[in-house]
Amino acid sequence: MQEALRKMEEAARQRIVKAADSAELKEIKVQYLGKKGEITRILRGMGQLDPKERPVVGNIANQVKENLVQALRDREEILKDEARQAEYTRESLDVTLPGVPLRQGHPHPITLVMEEVKGIFMGMGFRVEDGPELETDYYNFAALNIPRDHPARDMQDSFYLTEDLLLRTHTSPVQARVMEKMVPELPIRVIVPGKVYRRDDDATHSFMFHQVEGLAVDQKISLSDLKGTLLSFARQMFGPGQKIRLRPSYFPFTEPSAEVDISCVMCKGRGCRVCGSTGWLEILGAGMVHPRVFRMSGYDPEAVTGFAFGMGVERVAMLKYGIDDLRMFYVNDLRMLRQFR
Ligand code: DAH
Repeated sequence: MQEALRKMEEAARQRIVKAADSAELKEIKVQYLGKKGEITRILRGMGQLDPKERPVVGNIANQVKENLVQALRDREEILKDEARQAEYTRESLDVTLPGVPLRQGHPHPITLVMEEVKGIFMGMGFRVEDGPELETDYYNFAALNIPRDHPARDMQDSFYLTEDLLLRTHTSPVQARVMEKMVPELPIRVIVPGKVYRRDDDATHSFMFHQVEGLAVDQKISLSDLKGTLLSFARQMFGPGQKIRLRPSYFPFTEPSAEVDISCVMCKGRGCRVCGSTGWLEILGAGMVHPRVFRMSGYDPEAVTGFAFGMGVERVAMLKYGIDDLRMFYVNDLRMLRQFR
């Protein structure tokens, strides 16, 4: 009987060390140590033993039981360790591997130019303002001396939401908004960058584009202040050798009005294809604020004067970067945009 117990212990141990998981260990436990297990079966034969031998065999049986319980526990520990180790390997991070590059965005060229324009004018004491893109007829036209039926409205056809609400066709309405807010304070020096909308769509026009408006109001502001300010801007934006010229023009909200050219950035004024052999490129409209515009906004045109200008940001960006199709700014061709990283 002792022999049988020892043999059984050995067989059980062999299976325990080979067990692959705790389910198998449980099975082994039931098979050997359970109520109907091997040990119980062997011990049932104890009745036939010499009473003297019984305690000896009982002792051995208990020992075998304890040994197997211990062996099962040990194996359980080892399996747990192995599982943990496998998990570590699976989760381990090789910090020496090259990283996955993060795609980094960057500003759009239009944004870059707007920031640069802002920076230049802020350096001359202008402050940045903005206004709504959805504008009323009053601010977009009437407050700028463009009453209903004025022919100047034809050049700025827009998208109307109602008879009275439209997507603004220029940043000029912010002139009136700023003046109404500031009156009677002086001086006013603001620039207004923003989106504007028109019913246009071809290689040089888009239904949406960007402008930067400028407005300066004070006592005794003159046309030479306008010219000096714009010359300084042109030289900071396009280079120290820049020249500008003012050509007489017409805008309902300025008097006198001018269209402002810079010397051609391609040929430096000698004449080329870009400037149509004239040596000049138009970049903005400007003028002295019209007395009616002052009066409607609450300022006394006898007491104050001012200049205003409005420039097309796309136009400036095209000249600065040598881009020849306006639509390049809007089609999201990354080969083009990535050059501005
Ligand atoms: N708002 C005009 C346009 O979009 C541009 C302009 C011209 C703005 C003269 C001005 C100005 O402030 O004085 O065509």
